[in-house]
Amino acid sequence: MRTYKNNELRMNHIGQTVTLVGWVAKVRNLGGLLFLDLRDRYGITQLTCKPENPIHSLAETLRNEYVIQVTGIVVERESKNPNMETGDIEVEIKQLNLLSEANTPPIIIADKTDALEDFRMKYRYLDLRRPMMQKNLMLRHQITRAVRNYFDALDFIEIETPVFGKSTPEGAREYIVPSRVHPGEFYVLPQSPQVYKQLLMVAGFEKYYQIVKCFRDEDLRADRQMEFTQIDLEMSFVDEEDIYKTIEGMMKKIFKDALGLDLVTPFKRISFDDSMELYGTDKPDLRFDLPLTNLSAFAKDVEFIVFQEALNEGGIVKGLKIPHAATHYSRKQIDAWTEDIKKFKARGLAWLKYDGITLTGSIVKYLSEDQKASLMQLFALEKDDMVVICAGKKTIVNPSLSYVRNFVGRDLGLIDESRYEILWIVNWPSFEYNEELGRYLAAHHPFTSPKDDSKDLILTAPEKCYSKCYDIVMNGYELGSGSIRIHDQKLQADMFRAIGLSEDNIKRKFGFFVDALKFGTPPHGGIALGLDRLAMILTHSSSIRDVIAFPKSANAIDLMTEAPSPLDPKLLADLKIKVDQ
Ligand code: AMO
Repeated sequence: MRTYKNNELRMNHIGQTVTLVGWVAKVRNLGGLLFLDLRDRYGITQLTCKPENPIHSLAETLRNEYVIQVTGIVVERESKNPNMETGDIEVEIKQLNLLSEANTPPIIIADKTDALEDFRMKYRYLDLRRPMMQKNLMLRHQITRAVRNYFDALDFIEIETPVFGKSTPEGAREYIVPSRVHPGEFYVLPQSPQVYKQLLMVAGFEKYYQIVKCFRDEDLRADRQMEFTQIDLEMSFVDEEDIYKTIEGMMKKIFKDALGLDLVTPFKRISFDDSMELYGTDKPDLRFDLPLTNLSAFAKDVEFIVFQEALNEGGIVKGLKIPHAATHYSRKQIDAWTEDIKKFKARGLAWLKYDGITLTGSIVKYLSEDQKASLMQLFALEKDDMVVICAGKKTIVNPSLSYVRNFVGRDLGLIDESRYEILWIVNWPSFEYNEELGRYLAAHHPFTSPKDDSKDLILTAPEKCYSKCYDIVMNGYELGSGSIRIHDQKLQADMFRAIGLSEDNIKRKFGFFVDALKFGTPPHGGIALGLDRLAMILTHSSSIRDVIAFPKSANAIDLMTEAPSPLDPKLLADLKIKVDQ
């Protein structure tokens, strides 16, 4: 239906008769002389129609988002637009074929739109016409194409795994699907293909990958969807170094193919403990520095009840120096942070400011002259620096100061948005203690192999165990996570015991899996990366929803189709389900 796309015509086409198709993106009528922008997936071409043109009366009826086919002559523009690829030319319409009319669109179809997100979701097919959204989804496609080409060249095979399955212990709440054939019984949608990909290693495939949908019934956030996509892989006869090398190569290929950038490898590595100590998080944004300072030793001698209570309860005291910010941040801002970090159960935030002569702040009255001097030294304080200090349990102090660190990183413009900082977080503890449940849970998942010197400790001293687990972190987001797996069935059974599963439970839930390990299991390991998160970061989007064609809203609704919705009582009856409202 066309001879050219809307980004193709240049000065060398002048005089040619061309046929174009697309949507009318803009209509201007300058005293009868019509200017129309014609948009397709590729770009925009300006069309003109003079009042004396025989099809002028038809052209005058065109409105935004009408779909048309035009044939015309390429001419040089009088006033060129250097901001447009086709800005040197325009096409004088000779024939016009109206393919489809359009109602007035409820949102502006342009990168800049004032539409609220809910409205964009309701009319997602129009929102997706916006060039920015098209670019996002095209970049996502370039990522998956690079991934497929990369793994294909390395001898990996893509194997699909089931969507209807059984529960696996990976931490998130799962979606369940009732069985009509077996009333009262349910399938579980996979949080990830973890169990299947390990079984594919038992089956001897050696190198598996899949670009795969996963499902988790979690509270949604800017970087979380209930259904999302993983770049999932598993390899046999490998150790951690093989996985790092494979993923670094994949990231290099994605950056080259999708962005034209040369990524430097190998990536930095930081141990979990160091990352928590230095940045208070296992996903530090290293595009800016601002490390935390441990003040526990210093705080021991400070007669401030909050510090003393924290230390007596086995907690810590840590501080964050914010350089050159003493006049920038008022009490009001500190109060706002204090309010924000209540979500981590933090009870307060002490602060200090240094004007080059004196130290002021909420805790100076508790400090001796010597203590002030040593604090100045600990933080290497310079004129106009400020410090915020948090005391309490590790699990409160670290996320609180990490929150403030990220806030000031953004707020003070310390982040170079064009930079990509990718690192591996290594040496993870095997377990984390869950206070509510009063027992240990697997820090990654219970298929993760302990380090060789931790193997004998998993039942006796779980708090001392470290695992062969790794996370890949990019610009402050957890991009992926994986591990070398347990391939010994006795160790696997011990691991299930360590996280409090009874023998009966192990048999019922994972009998098939423990059994499979008895039939000759190769050492194996793998990783999964969040494709949506990767696309979000590479497109500089602020929400994961901007790189998914049809996402759910923050409260788990598809605003376009209005799912979820009540079911026909007949369907419920078939499933033998009664809804208790
Ligand atoms: P994990 O649970 O860490 O590991 O998930 C791997 C990666 O998937 C992405 N991700 C999500 N993205 C969007 N929305 C969500 N709700 C969501 N949840 C996770 C993240 C995360 O890093 N089976 C293991 C991997 C393995 O051990 O090989 C797993 O699923 O980017």
